[in-house]
Parts: sequence; C-alpha cells; structure tokens
Amino acid sequence: MTKVLVLNGPNLNRLGSREPDVYGTASYTDLVSQVTSLAASLSLDVDVRQTNDESELVSWLHEAVDTKSHVILNPAAFTHYSYSLRDACAMVTKEGLSLIEVHISNPHAREEFRHNSVISGVATGVIAGFGLNSYLLALRQLSH
Ligand code: DQA
Repeated sequence: MTKVLVLNGPNLNRLGSREPDVYGTASYTDLVSQVTSLAASLSLDVDVRQTNDESELVSWLHEAVDTKSHVILNPAAFTHYSYSLRDACAMVTKEGLSLIEVHISNPHAREEFRHNSVISGVATGVIAGFGLNSYLLALRQLSH
C-alpha cells in the first residue's frame, strides 16, 4: 500500500475557530476525518499529524525518507521562512518521493509576506486556495 504522511504545521490545530473567514469553519478533526476517509477509498495508507514545533516537523520529514512515504505538507507560517524545513523537504523529493505543498487559503491573494514560499522550489507540486479540498486533491494526485 502506498504510504502517505499528511503533515500540518503551526496553528492548524485551531482550524474552525482561527480566522474562519480565511480558513473556513471545519475543524482539525474534520480535516483528519475527510482525509482518512478519502484515503481509505483510494487505498492509500495515511497518517495525519499536526505540530506547532518546527523540529518535530523536520523529524517527521526524515521519517518520510526512512519509511519511503509520500508527503502532503501544509507548512503553515513555516512556508514563508523555514530553511530547515525546506532542506528536509528536499531530502524527500531527492529520494524520488512526492511532496505536495498544500494550503487552505491562497497565500498569493493575501499579505505580501505570504507570497513567497521557501518550500515550493523543492516540492513536487503546490495546491492552494481550495479549503480542505486542497488536501483531497493532493490525495487524488498521489493515487494516480
Ligand atoms: C496556510 C497559509 C499560511 O500563510 C498561514 O501561515 C497558515 C495557513 C494555509 O493553509 O492557507 O497558517 O498555510
């Protein structure tokens, strides 16, 4: 079975209550259940995680390399400045594994500091702006 780690960065545990005008009203629990149920129907083996800690996210990317798992990553605010996360993402894609960067909102339509992603240059692809569907589209891509 194809293994997929779905990794979420800081503040995404507050989905539903955090800026619902930007991120919608679905909670993090809703995200986990939507992702796990679509993954089951696509026969993907998923593990969905969230952390507010950069070093934990880096360690999970190392784990993706070691376990040969593809990655769907919402790096949240780390998108815009974390070179350590970028370097860890590069290890995943250099291994021939897919890493899809996802965003709930469209960062390009928001504040200028969100327009730059230090992750996109080493990602396999980017899906942004479709709410929780960004994750579901990424799962469908990985199932191809
Ligand atoms: C986000 C966009 C980021 O700019 C922001 O810092 C987030 C969430 C998104 O999913 O739209 O925390 O990654």
